[in-house]
Order: sequence, then C-alpha cells, then structure tokens
Amino acid sequence: MESYKKLLLENKAWVKEKMDLRPDFFLRLKDEQTPEFLWIGCSDSRVPAEDITGTEPGELFVHRNVANLVVHTDLNLLSVLQYAVEALKVKHIIVCGHYGCGGVKNALSHKSLGLINKWLRNIKDVYRIHKAELDNMPDMDARYRRLIELNVEEQVKNLSETSIVQYAWFKEQRPCLHGWVYDLHSGYLKELTMIKPGEMPDDIYRFEF
Ligand code: CO
Repeated sequence: MESYKKLLLENKAWVKEKMDLRPDFFLRLKDEQTPEFLWIGCSDSRVPAEDITGTEPGELFVHRNVANLVVHTDLNLLSVLQYAVEALKVKHIIVCGHYGCGGVKNALSHKSLGLINKWLRNIKDVYRIHKAELDNMPDMDARYRRLIELNVEEQVKNLSETSIVQYAWFKEQRPCLHGWVYDLHSGYLKELTMIKPGEMPDDIYRFEF
C-alpha cells in the first residue's frame, strides 16, 4: 500500500473511534469554533500541537512555520493573529519552540540555503540582540539550546509590539502572551516567559488608541 493511503484509512478509524465515544462529536463542531488559545509553533513534524497539549478539535487555533517566528511583515501570521484576536477573541497566545529545532540550528551556522536564508535571518537577529550572553557560552550545545529559548522570548515580544495585540489589551484586557519550549526527548513543555495584558514593550513600540 502506498504510504499516503494509510492516512486516509487512519482517518476512517479515527472517525469511528470518536463516534463510538460520542455520537455527536462532529455535529457539535460543525457550526462554529470558539477556541481559547492561539498556538504559534514550529512546522517540525515531531511537535504536534494538539497531541502534546491533550486538546481536541475546536480548542486550539493553530499557526505553524519554520522556527515559530512572529515576523511583523508576515501577512500569513498577521492574518491568523488578527482573526484569532478580533474574531475568535482568544484569551491566550502561546509561542512554542522546541529543543532540536533545525531552523535555529541552521541560523547558528554560516550555511547558505537559498530562499530560507531570508526567513532564518530573523533568528540571526535574535542572536545579535543576545550576542553578549551567547558568545560567553563555550559549549555549543548549550548555546544552541539557549538560542532556542531566546528565540521564543523574542517572538513573544514581537507579538506584544503589534497594534493587534495592544488594541485588544486596551479594549478587553486580553490576550495573555506565553512563551514555551518543548523537549522532544522527554515530551514535557516548559514555561519560559509570560506577558500579561497591558505590560507594554519598549516605549517606541507602544501605540496610542
Ligand atoms: Co523547529
């Protein structure tokens, strides 16, 4: 059997499993979604957002890209963010990185990889901001792990610097911004940072409404 056909078969088994447990499982979901969380994670296949958080369909609004970046000119991310904040009214936004992230690893190197150089450039910028701390870490693996954490923290700050988030803070005192990292080897999530509604970033990024 071709590998992709297994996915379609697994889908049938999944529907049966859900219906056996709860006959209205799909009926319940068809009209609207009211997720409380926006998840911004890495595209890495080893970090399945719903599985690691034990969430069901309808609970997470998900955006994933290489190295879980929040880039202020990325129309895809910004559209997801605006919809999640303004229409779905999510209460929490979680940026989740992971140890062993290939995007961060390549950004730490000097390899030229084509188009993706431009995307990974954003992680090199994170390195530059935290150069003093990172250059002081002689152990390359420790430096790699720390850059993964700092990258998450900078992406959470990037969220706080958007007018979308600041306007929702101003009007409705939400959402709360979280930075987490996932350990592929243990399966555990770790909290790195949290920005509560109204905790403004550096003044130059503050908008008045
Ligand atoms: Co990754």
